[in-house]
Amino acid sequence: MRALVLGVGLSAVVGCAVAAEPTPPFTADQAARGEAVYKAQCASCHGDHLDDGQFAAALKGPAFKAKWAGKTLDEAFVLMLTQMPPTDPGSLGAKAYADVLAFILARNGVAPSGGELPADAAALKTLTIPS
Ligand code: HEC
Repeated sequence: MRALVLGVGLSAVVGCAVAAEPTPPFTADQAARGEAVYKAQCASCHGDHLDDGQFAAALKGPAFKAKWAGKTLDEAFVLMLTQMPPTDPGSLGAKAYADVLAFILARNGVAPSGGELPADAAALKTLTIPS
């Protein structure tokens, strides 16, 4: 019984550690580069304001958060890299997709901090989309 209580206590501590994950880093410059890419390559479907697209899901706001908050950033990165834009997936190069991701984070209320968001799925796997 005591072992069980200890086990529950430990998992609560681990749970807290996960919830307190660091905010993903990106710079304001990177988000600005991402905005330019977004306007040229993504806005036609996802909307100028990320939630007013006629042809695709919102990339900011409650619906986006409900789907993506708590997921690791590599999931969104790999989806974008392998599926977006639908007419020519991967065509922008990894760095441009990381820049767009930084822009999407910024538009979801995440403040720039630290260095640039890495254009690398393994590194992005350690970072979580904040709620
Ligand atoms: C030709 C239209 C079109 C363009 C251009 C486009 N997308 Fe999409 N996108 C879609 C569709 C369609 C889906 C999947 C269905 C949906 O979400 O409505 C999608 C889904 C997504 C998703 C997953 C959304 C979710 O919550 O499931 C992301 C992220 C995304 N696109 C990012 C981008 C980025 C970044 C670009 C620019 C590089 C881009 N898309 C360009 C049409 C487009």
